Amino acid sequence: MVELALPKNSRITDGKIWPKPEGATNVREFGIYRWSPDDDLNPRVDTYYVDLDDCGPMVLDALLWIKNNVDPTLTLRRSCREGICGSCAMNIDGANTLACTKGMDEVAGAVKVYPLPHMPVIKDLVPDLTVPYAQLRSIEPWLQTETPEPEKEWRQSHSDREKLDGLYECILCFCCQTSCPSYWWNGERYLGPAVLLQAYRWLIDSRDEATGDRLDHLEDPFRLYRCHTIMNCTQTCPKGLNPAKAIAEIKKMMVERRV
Ligand code: SF4
Ligand code: SF4
Ligand code: FES
Repeated sequence: MVELALPKNSRITDGKIWPKPEGATNVREFGIYRWSPDDDLNPRVDTYYVDLDDCGPMVLDALLWIKNNVDPTLTLRRSCREGICGSCAMNIDGANTLACTKGMDEVAGAVKVYPLPHMPVIKDLVPDLTVPYAQLRSIEPWLQTETPEPEKEWRQSHSDREKLDGLYECILCFCCQTSCPSYWWNGERYLGPAVLLQAYRWLIDSRDEATGDRLDHLEDPFRLYRCHTIMNCTQTCPKGLNPAKAIAEIKKMMVERRV
């Protein structure tokens, strides 16, 4: 586990108000969470102004505009800038989503940007995802088989392949994981919606032969059963997936194997 220097007092204070871009006539206000382990200050919300005539339409465009033109210390993760890598997940306007696919025009008023909630912060908008990644490893998200490997490929019927739709598209952004109240309170022991959706993806893969072991691993009062069907996860998924349904399907598999 990464050793983190966390804020001693997490009360968020008002931060710096950065100057408006000179000569700009089309300006948008941003309130952005800032915290650095390198100083001894409380987290704060800095105010920035973005020149919309010089910037792309997405929240990620604005964050990069700020970083390039106003404050190079602003720290965030991003890679693909088209909704496939999952690295720019953050809380925008009160909801977890991807900064690269969230249009500024979808937000009314000043754009408020915070890191994914209830996770330790490494710096500014970068959360520490060590725990969810360790949980992902724990469900062994890869094909497991006992029969001898076929010469060419593991085959699957069209209908079995279709069972993976709505699951394989998950980009592991952890928007759902960090929107789940059960995960906030029991994050070390409850696996959370993103990891359970991945678990289900392997449970229903017709090629996988470790179904029994996978279910045994989930048969635990915390790992699976802390989901109380609050549905925040499904509401927030930026890829339109339904982790709550995947969790319900796992619970159904647990019941079915008992009868
Ligand atoms: S449905 Fe389950 S996993 Fe999703 S937010 Fe609710 S408790 Fe969390
Ligand atoms: S289910 Fe959706 S919100 Fe959750 S990790 Fe996958 S893509 Fe992200
Ligand atoms: S930068 Fe890859 S999903 Fe946003």
